[in-house]
Amino acid sequence: MATPETAKRSRVSEKASRFTESVIREMTREAIKYGAVNLSQGFPDFPAPEDIKRAAQEAIADDVNQYAITWGAKDFRDAIAEKSKWYLGLDVDPETEVTVTCGSTEGMIAAMMATVDPGEEIVVFEPFYENYAPDAVLSGATPRYVPLRAPEWTFDREELRAAFGERTKAVILCNPNNPTGKVFTRDEMEFVASLCREFDALCFTDEIYEHILYPRAGRTVEHISMAQLEGMRERTVVVNSMSKTYSVTGWRVGYCIAPPDIAAAVRKVHDFLTVGAAAPLQRAGAYALRLPHDYYEHLQRDYERRRDVLLPVLEDAGFKVFRPDGAYYVMTDISAFGFRDDIEFTRFLVREVGVACVPGSSFYSRPELGAQQVRFCFCKKDETLDAAAERLQKLQKK
Ligand SMILES: Cc1ncc(COP(=O)(O)O)c(C=O)c1O
Repeated sequence: MATPETAKRSRVSEKASRFTESVIREMTREAIKYGAVNLSQGFPDFPAPEDIKRAAQEAIADDVNQYAITWGAKDFRDAIAEKSKWYLGLDVDPETEVTVTCGSTEGMIAAMMATVDPGEEIVVFEPFYENYAPDAVLSGATPRYVPLRAPEWTFDREELRAAFGERTKAVILCNPNNPTGKVFTRDEMEFVASLCREFDALCFTDEIYEHILYPRAGRTVEHISMAQLEGMRERTVVVNSMSKTYSVTGWRVGYCIAPPDIAAAVRKVHDFLTVGAAAPLQRAGAYALRLPHDYYEHLQRDYERRRDVLLPVLEDAGFKVFRPDGAYYVMTDISAFGFRDDIEFTRFLVREVGVACVPGSSFYSRPELGAQQVRFCFCKKDETLDAAAERLQKLQKK
């Protein structure tokens, strides 16, 4: 029984009360509730590759059913090192530099908890993937937001420089970017890297869309990992995952690559947060990461096609579309519809039109910044995209 003194104490931590539940994941629940076509949360509604599923089934049948080594099964870590070599050109020591986590979600928070002390600052480009703000609260970091401005989602170099200072511990870079679809250019990356070196800051780089890029006439769209740039390998934590590349978001298998001193700290945090990621799925992960290179070319072309289905549908319906160069989302401007804000519009869209998207404000530190934006994802079956197209015809511009 609580005594009168303890009863006055809040039962919920100050940390937990400083952020809300995920709006993205809430939108999936709303879509189910209203029978809407779900273009909100970024997960494929088509089957995962047969051979990858079979590898997981075989792993369970072979009795890979007990804890893996806490920082990851050796064969999976070896596969991560091999893939990092061919795709990123990085020499990664699987014994000291890789930590397998429960998705990149755990990878990011474990990396932050392992490196950031309360009061230290992290620089975050805005709009941002919504997890980074609670990650900052949970790790005690103070975020400094730097705007990416539509239509090209470019940043102002002076603004970025001004966000760095004595207390800066790290910058978070999501590249290719969710929600904007931006792929940072080499020049932009070099500038971010120069600030990290100048201010002795780390970089947490979320690269889960590394293979989902769309070629564009007159411009090089390439995936560059921050860890590839001069002087950055020793100050970068690469956060990655099987979720998007292999269409297995429910497996919850991700990983961090970091220099040994940081990796050792990440491993400790990870050990006491989760002990480890699912052992049989790590076995299947080792298979997946060693797939022939044309698997990735296929993936890219497939998403390019889906993007090219959804974008004209949105444009015809009256959205202003910011064409993505990577990832599988599209940010749009909804001003043409005359709604007060993104929340009102999203509610209308899910309930009256029957399509779920994500309100733009969930990607900003201040809701008003995203009040006329919403995000759609296109990692969906043709039938799903067609059903959305049919329903969106009901929308009317004001
Ligand atoms: C940028 C970004 N990072 C991380 C995640 C979560 O990934 P995981 O399933 O690996 O935890 C997502 C999922 O949508 C994402 O878009």
